[in-house]
Amino acid sequence: MTARTTGARFITLEGIDGAGKSTHAAWLVDALRERGLRVVATREPGGTGLGEALRDILLHRPMSHDCEALLMFAARREHVLQVIEPALARGECVVCDRYTDATYAYQGGGHGVPLELIATLERLLHPDCNPDLTLLFDVPEAVSRQRLRRQQAKGRELDKFEREAGAFFERVRDAYLELAQAEPARFRVVDSSQPIEVEYAGILEWRITEIVKNGKGTGLEVSSEGKVVERGKTHDESSEHEKPVQSPEKPVK
Ligand code: TYD
Repeated sequence: MTARTTGARFITLEGIDGAGKSTHAAWLVDALRERGLRVVATREPGGTGLGEALRDILLHRPMSHDCEALLMFAARREHVLQVIEPALARGECVVCDRYTDATYAYQGGGHGVPLELIATLERLLHPDCNPDLTLLFDVPEAVSRQRLRRQQAKGRELDKFEREAGAFFERVRDAYLELAQAEPARFRVVDSSQPIEVEYAGILEWRITEIVKNGKGTGLEVSSEGKVVERGKTHDESSEHEKPVQSPEKPVK
């Protein structure tokens, strides 16, 4: 494990398919760069030559659920060694579209792979390489399904995971919310059910300012409804803090 340089930030984005996560990844990277941070934008499965080849297999070929988990970690191991740890050691910010939480949510929650297997692989393969902050884009399954159908109608072919039944996505979503509740200092849950608008982008803007200033441990927690609230307050009491400090300089894609 390479030592991290002061100021390094490892940020991951998570959520069920159709939650709007990928739409925000590029925006987040731009916003961090505008604040003078050097940012490596990457994704999982993928991020390296081998990882991208494994992504193609994982997203399109049928295989056992255990095999899926093992291949996710094979790709991740290369990614951590070749991309993530070197970037953090250089003091850069890493924004990664999915990471190990996705394996817990999709393979564990969605497909029933034993959590001990995932936890063991996590401990052995990247014991010290864990996100400082995870943005969880949360959306009901019906909304995600609608968005995927719209993309399909525009001619995009859905991958193996995106073709899963609604009950699968319900389990994945529940698993993500459980992860967020277990680690409130790391997770920020973003209600992603509204159409993406400037106001919504402003919420992210506020959180980015928070990332840059404070990193983790910002005194927020995830309430029992899965909302981000100030520690010790209800969602209603703290919702005024969800308002944007200022409008983002650029429109959301
Ligand atoms: P996704 O990140 O949603 O990419 P895109 O936005 O291009 O569709 O697609 C990756 C898929 O891989 C997604 O359906 C979730 C799945 N996945 C897992 O099942 N386990 C994992 O550990 C990771 C990283 C991804």
